[in-house]
Amino acid sequence: MDQLFEAIDFVENPLYEKIISDISTQQYSIVENFFSYDEVSILRGSLLSKQEEDNFKKAAIGNRVNETIAKSIRGDMILWMDESKADDKEKLFFNKINDLVSYLNKTCFMGILQKEFHYALYPEGTFYRRHLDTFQNDDRRKLSFVCYLNEDGWLPENGGELVLYFYENGQEVEKVIYPFPGRVVIFESQVLEHEVKPVKTERMSITGWLKTR
Ligand code: OGA
Ligand code: MN
Repeated sequence: MDQLFEAIDFVENPLYEKIISDISTQQYSIVENFFSYDEVSILRGSLLSKQEEDNFKKAAIGNRVNETIAKSIRGDMILWMDESKADDKEKLFFNKINDLVSYLNKTCFMGILQKEFHYALYPEGTFYRRHLDTFQNDDRRKLSFVCYLNEDGWLPENGGELVLYFYENGQEVEKVIYPFPGRVVIFESQVLEHEVKPVKTERMSITGWLKTR
């Protein structure tokens, strides 16, 4: 009986199904308008108000236990988000994330039990050199998630492209992704090397990871 109810309860979500099939075939997925125009401007407002309170810190390399600041590798400023202290604006963000996570866990048995997200600000002239999102002493990050909060009308010449590197037929391919507002990129943390090209206009995002225990 219980099983029957669960089966009836489950509604297939075409957007999430596309994300799942993209990731399983090409290790990444690009979603336009994951967040609506209004949601992006609310989240951008949240980022900017925290920037005004001066809460951002220079991002480090390595994890939170073992970090060093190396401006030659990355120059962004970050602020970790705390879901337990989320205000209404951040709840809007986490509700969408949690909905996606519960779908992934239900349909793909991904076993995502933890997540971590931070706001990120790339001042003019900064970049993040080619890297992998996993650490030597911690391989719990499974999926990387980046959501761009730039102003509407962001131009390719503003720089800050995300470049994913992977192999196709034995050849290295570069996939260039512009950080247009509302766009979300999800990719496999343990396999896809990537970089953020030098930024010419301040670039805003929320970045995070879905993790197993
Ligand atoms: C990162 C990262 C990509 C981006 O923060 O680890 O690779 O497009 N970000 O901001
Ligand atoms: Mn990264």
